[in-house]
Amino acid sequence: METLIRKIDNLNIDSEIIKEAAGILQRGGLVAFPTETVYGLGANGLSEEACKKIYEAKGRPSDNPLILHIGDFAQLEQIVEEVPALAKKVMDAFWPGPLTLIFKKKPCVPNSVTGGLDTVGVRFPSNMVARELIRESKLPIAAPSANSSGKPSPTKASHVKFDLDGKVEMIIDGGSTDFGLESTIVDVTGDVAVILRPGAITKEMLVDLLGYAEVDPAILARGTSNAVPKAPGMKYTHYSPKAQVILVKGETSVVVEKINSLVAENQAKGLKVGVMATDETKDRYKADIVLSVGARNDEIAIGASLFKILRKFDFFAADIVYSEVFAETGEGLAIMNRLNKAAGYNYIEV
Ligand code: TXA
Ligand code: MG
Repeated sequence: METLIRKIDNLNIDSEIIKEAAGILQRGGLVAFPTETVYGLGANGLSEEACKKIYEAKGRPSDNPLILHIGDFAQLEQIVEEVPALAKKVMDAFWPGPLTLIFKKKPCVPNSVTGGLDTVGVRFPSNMVARELIRESKLPIAAPSANSSGKPSPTKASHVKFDLDGKVEMIIDGGSTDFGLESTIVDVTGDVAVILRPGAITKEMLVDLLGYAEVDPAILARGTSNAVPKAPGMKYTHYSPKAQVILVKGETSVVVEKINSLVAENQAKGLKVGVMATDETKDRYKADIVLSVGARNDEIAIGASLFKILRKFDFFAADIVYSEVFAETGEGLAIMNRLNKAAGYNYIEV
């Protein structure tokens, strides 16, 4: 299959491109499209058959459920049994936006979407291209991140093409995504809101709104416990470049010194070594590839560039990458969650 690439102007959306893409979805095909978090690999979310193609294209395990993207509240009622008061409060505050909520599903939601669960994840994105596509296709769109399974999620159309060329009918190129990390997933089926995957809607924001919110213990366990994550996808190795990633924790000047000595050791073995630095430290490293994720205090910028930088280390064929770490407050919890998974929870403390 030849993959069509259609460049779109977010400020002046070409309705012909949207119609073409919606037609593909309605015929059961796959379209990758931008959202405010990462690019999604979309299919008709009510078609068992169409959703199966997503798993094939990504090489995704079939027990890892998909989330449905909706364009209005009427569509939500089509697919979920009930909207609890807790959910309503969170939706009113943060939808449309980078937030997925877990609901009890209606029978019309196919098993290939939910991986056999009786719940379904739903997101109302704010990105206008995504919203136009949902409106035009008149479908809830099932869309995981548009990467091959295990790779960092795509924040640019070129990332999608690299992973899925020939496996998707069309890629809508809407430029770089805003947040760069996948949506926060919150389970609102119980008495309290439980974060199953951290993201740009932070625990602090939920606590501000609700007075209380929890984080799934498996997210905080850092791979050391047997806690099974409630978002099935969080149990898989993820976000990893081909290079081995190792995090180095400690006071900044000691971290810089340690990383430089590890770089020298590995270079002596003939390895190509990368360092994931910050704007403040990047000039202090001597390695084959030094890339900054942004200014240390700017977690929005770091979130937006993290996956792109991880992919760049692959592009430069790094064998091993040392990375600084960040505070786990605000969006930092999401950044460290993705970094820990990219590193397979491999870290050195200095
Ligand atoms: O930002 C995002 O959420 C992006 C864009 C494209 O919207 N999508 C995305 O989808 O990240 P995906 O499939 O890569 O991640 C969805 C996560 C998976 O870890 C999956 O296990 C979890 O959501 N999930 C889906 N349905 C669930 C359910 N019913 N209960 C718990 N977790 C669920
Ligand atoms: Mg994903």
